[in-house]
Amino acid sequence: MNIFDVYKLWPIEPVKAKGCTVWDKSGTEYLDMYGGHAVVSIGHTHPIYIEKIKSQIDKISFYSNSVINSLQTSLAEELGQMSGYSDYSLFLSNSGAEANENALKLASFHTGKFKIIAFKGGFHGRTSGAVAVTDIPSIISPFNTGHKVSFVALNDIDSVKKELSTGDCAAVIIEGIQGVAGIYSPEIKFLQELREETKRCGVVLILDEVQSGYGRSGKFFAHQYAGIEADIVTTAKGMGNGFPIGGTIISPAFNAVSGMLGTTFGGNHLACAASLAVLEVIKKENLIEGAAKKGAYLFDSLVALRDRVGEGVISDIRGVGLMVGVEMKEEYSSVRDSLLFEEKIFTGVAKGNIIRLLPPLTISFEEIDHFIAAFERTIEKTKRD
Ligand SMILES: Cc1ncc(COP(=O)(O)O)c(C=O)c1O
Repeated sequence: MNIFDVYKLWPIEPVKAKGCTVWDKSGTEYLDMYGGHAVVSIGHTHPIYIEKIKSQIDKISFYSNSVINSLQTSLAEELGQMSGYSDYSLFLSNSGAEANENALKLASFHTGKFKIIAFKGGFHGRTSGAVAVTDIPSIISPFNTGHKVSFVALNDIDSVKKELSTGDCAAVIIEGIQGVAGIYSPEIKFLQELREETKRCGVVLILDEVQSGYGRSGKFFAHQYAGIEADIVTTAKGMGNGFPIGGTIISPAFNAVSGMLGTTFGGNHLACAASLAVLEVIKKENLIEGAAKKGAYLFDSLVALRDRVGEGVISDIRGVGLMVGVEMKEEYSSVRDSLLFEEKIFTGVAKGNIIRLLPPLTISFEEIDHFIAAFERTIEKTKRD
């Protein structure tokens, strides 16, 4: 049997990793400015993470959701406290798509309505509802088109108001920072107005923090820069540092009805142990404050680099904390591959010419300097070629 060939693979096989360093099969060392797509939050193979998972697996790794699992309660308590959503409830699943799928279902159960307002450029996952609210037509199959979804431009409150006025809307779903699209933050005023308008219309506001959450932005959730509270917040990626786990964080206004949501694997003992380790390390190592500081340093270093290499190379730098997008002029689209193959640095990409920087939150100032120097070398070399 072959692997179903849907991923464009780099010819690299990582076999070992520590902190922000990854080694491939032949022993070549890479700097990880990508975090395996914003997943590795507390760094690779963190000792607390290893210890918690190992000791849990020695006790029990799984039992079904029909018995008490106090690790889930501990996780909910800790997450509530650290995120500022302590009066909300937590439903645990296995991925970002599932966290969103459950959020959309809950919004529809709660309001009795079915239309969803989503945003152009938005990405929310690949399950039926999550992909229907994703603005990438090529990944939406005919089977997924049965949902009623209206896409509006990010930051366009008048269009949102127009859609809300139809009265058939269950929810608005929005990313804390659009990641897959190429790092676009909703304006603070827009988020505040969105909160007001959805509240006024009795429509559920879902904040998808799957990529931008867990401290990456320099706040626990990126939307907290706008000082708003969502009705539902979704998380995944950084939540388990690589162990599959997703969370739907639900306002006390929602009634839990037995059986309305469910999952076999979600919230299993190992996933909870991994996720508790992540929160412990975030707290112990002040990683959220660190993400804000190191993110500002990275951003300033990139601005200085743009000044040195000239605006004809880097057309925009966006983002906050350790979620940064560097938009390159089309002629410099090869820089990302050169960074990987020549400088041995992993980064992410969007639209071919936007480099996405999503390193583990444990990245050091020295590693950021190393990246900037390599980035500059690569740009200068590309200019000459
Ligand atoms: C904002 C956002 N939501 C949802 C998802 C889907 O998460 P998963 O791949 O874990 O289903 C992603 C994945 O990239 C994402 O960036």
